[in-house]
Amino acid sequence: MAIISSSDVNNIIRKTLNMVDKKIMEHCEIVAYTLYKMLQYENIYSAQQLVDYTMLGILHDIGLFKTGDSENLISYELKNVWEHSIYGYLFLRYLSPLKEHAEIVLYHHLDYNKHSLIQYPDMHIAEYLFFADKLDVYTRLTTDKKMSAAEYFTSNRDKTFSTRAQTLFLEAERAMHITRNLRDGSYRDELNELLSLRQFSEDYKRGFLEMLIYTIDFRSEYTVLHTLGTVTFALEIGKLMHLDKIDMYKLYYGALLHDIGKINIPIDILEAPRKLTSYEMLIMKTHTNNTEEILQGVVNKDVLNIAIRHHEKLDGSGYPYGISGDYLTLPQRINAVADILSALYQKRSYKEAFDPTKIINILKNDSACGQLCPKVVDCAIKNFSIIARNYEAKKNATMGTYIQIKEQYEMIYERFKQFE
Ligand SMILES: [Fe+2]
Ligand SMILES: [Fe+2]
Ligand SMILES: [Fe+2]
Repeated sequence: MAIISSSDVNNIIRKTLNMVDKKIMEHCEIVAYTLYKMLQYENIYSAQQLVDYTMLGILHDIGLFKTGDSENLISYELKNVWEHSIYGYLFLRYLSPLKEHAEIVLYHHLDYNKHSLIQYPDMHIAEYLFFADKLDVYTRLTTDKKMSAAEYFTSNRDKTFSTRAQTLFLEAERAMHITRNLRDGSYRDELNELLSLRQFSEDYKRGFLEMLIYTIDFRSEYTVLHTLGTVTFALEIGKLMHLDKIDMYKLYYGALLHDIGKINIPIDILEAPRKLTSYEMLIMKTHTNNTEEILQGVVNKDVLNIAIRHHEKLDGSGYPYGISGDYLTLPQRINAVADILSALYQKRSYKEAFDPTKIINILKNDSACGQLCPKVVDCAIKNFSIIARNYEAKKNATMGTYIQIKEQYEMIYERFKQFE
């Protein structure tokens, strides 16, 4: 059995979006479902295309993680449309398995009467996505409506959205009762069914989860490399300590997902250029509880425990549960060391990157005082130069992507000013 299934991937994305903002999560699913039914009705797409476009629908507002103020994400969906369209596109383009279709997200707020300015073969999907988005935004999310939905859609036809998209929707609605399924909630089962019927390849699953995690890490320059570091160090140590194949898989997913709960930690706490106050520290510590809330009941129990126990200490002084060494397995201990190693190795808002001697001394000290596993620390120290070399090679690629995303964002934003 796969450690993480296709529907687990969907559930992790859903629960992460939900933690940020329930309204956004519902909006993304409703839009994805509407788009899926329109395409299903059109009946010219392969099963894989249907899954790809539906996943794209689920992720179409992923850029809000970067641009929105987490207090009120939905207002960004309604007003500041370019920022999150551009970031969403860039995350999908550079970090997801949907690279080829990413441009659809770039245009998901672009009025139909401007589409002729764009040369892009998948523009009709952007047209449909835009319609599905507007339908939910106008009928459900807009509170100060100046006209009825019917009037709104008639008066904006071929200006805001295309007749083609509207006609397709109305025909699909008649044949497949989209709005009824949205109202009674059965659309969720249908989405789940679609995404679990088609078994995702290991690369496809990893691709989505890595994209989600990097999107969270990319919120702050200081955390860009954190998960990458933790995963790389954990796998290096795991290999050196001869974990079997299954444990290596579990360690990979546990390390990858360990800080997913940081999605909910305010950016000013993540970027505080000093030691956190005790109140800020309390907030910061909730990230492990958030990680648990997202992964609980979704992923394999061993993966869950590797992820949520990365701040536990052998002497029971860690958090969130103060679990002692007797209960901490080798993969959990490895992940805890990898997490610290990754933090020490990199520059943070409150500290510079430490040199190898300093890192080794800190690890030795934490192991001597009974917090970190001595065997894991020994292995890490003995092999420090190999571990560090492998990480350096990967680091440059990720940092390069981060810089590329930032540069491209500025360039595309300039181009989009003409659409305002
Ligand atoms: Fe949007
Ligand atoms: Fe949207
Ligand atoms: Fe953490």
